[in-house]
Amino acid sequence: MTDLDGKCITLGVTGGVAAYKAAELVRLLGKAGARVRVVLTGAGARFVTPVTFQALSGNPVWTDLWDPRASNNMAHIELSRDADAIVVAPASADFLARIAHGLANDLLTTLCLARPRAGVEGAARDCPLLVAPAMNVQMWENPATRRNMDVLRQDGVVVLGPGSGDQACGETGMGRMLEPEELLDDIVAAFLPALLAGRRVLLTAGPTFEPLDPVRGLTNSSSGRMGYALARAAAEAGAQVTLVSGPVSLAAPRGVRRVDVTTAREMHAAVMERLAGQDVFIGVAAVADFRPAEFAVRKIKKGAARLTLDLVANPDILAEVAVRPDRPLCVGFAAESENLDAYAEAKRRAKGLPLVVGNLVHEALGREDSTVVLFDDAGRHPLPPGPKMEVARRIIAHIAAMMPRRAPV
Ligand code: C5P
Repeated sequence: MTDLDGKCITLGVTGGVAAYKAAELVRLLGKAGARVRVVLTGAGARFVTPVTFQALSGNPVWTDLWDPRASNNMAHIELSRDADAIVVAPASADFLARIAHGLANDLLTTLCLARPRAGVEGAARDCPLLVAPAMNVQMWENPATRRNMDVLRQDGVVVLGPGSGDQACGETGMGRMLEPEELLDDIVAAFLPALLAGRRVLLTAGPTFEPLDPVRGLTNSSSGRMGYALARAAAEAGAQVTLVSGPVSLAAPRGVRRVDVTTAREMHAAVMERLAGQDVFIGVAAVADFRPAEFAVRKIKKGAARLTLDLVANPDILAEVAVRPDRPLCVGFAAESENLDAYAEAKRRAKGLPLVVGNLVHEALGREDSTVVLFDDAGRHPLPPGPKMEVARRIIAHIAAMMPRRAPV
């Protein structure tokens, strides 16, 4: 199962230098399992030809409202009725202005106007419209564009980016189209239910590193992948996510605020500082239980046949958070080498946690796939084994179902 398995996406490409990135986006969407049909505006076709998009998508490319290939000459109806989403990347200032005002003067604007919307008579389902603006910073900041973007957001259009950085015109600022990988993440998230909308989630992830001397330290083989996958899954579910991370070689997921720490004590301080107002705390980090009692300022020399390290206990971050009167919903991880059920449940009770995610170390540490069992007051819930991202989404769904319902506003 891939992220966009069976999804049908109509990808609109308007006129902008970033159109070359849309070619890569088509490839990524296809790899994620989506069927992609590309609609080019006249200006879009000046930047990248239909041949490129046809070859990458494996489907005919559409440019003309009057294209006789469409049954009943209704390309705009076909391309929006059976699409699961319409994505426009890059979306030029002119295109955004036209859809903000309901114009339908070419194929792409017409099919955007014709897209089915949930709750509107005759619509069997919703076909969300996602736009990825790309333009010069002056055009993006222009009051006319600002007004158009406000209108589009009010109309329920999902705006992806833009980012800030160097622009093709030589200027620097807001208006750069997001990178294809970032767009893919946002498109995947748009299909997932917003189970944690309006919630705040704090996580720890990765190993800690406890320095012993200027070049050595105590650490472990945690890759951070499970914690990062959970952070991404929480963000996809609409939460505001803060990830306190030990040293790992992973990039922060889209939209996740990352705080880098090295030692357990730094991780402890970073968590305590950010705890107020959190709805969920997930301790995924493999925190070193002990640290060297002394830090040797100079490199420890070899010579002696034996060396004894004096270690002292680190704070237990999760246990400390779980006993606070203002505690969020606390979730722990139990990586065990044997007796998973007994040890995980014992840990849950000892730390007073509503939920523990248990796994066997040889099935988890440093691997792409994960096999986990959830332990809560209702008992044990084994999850189907799978890629860490899929498992993470299931864990987030379980956590969301445990959250106290909020009074309607
Ligand atoms: O006690 P144990 O280390 O087995 O518990 C594991 C759980 O506790 C994990 O969720 C881990 O992130 C958290 N933990 C922590 N601080 C520690 C040790 C573990 O937050 N010092």
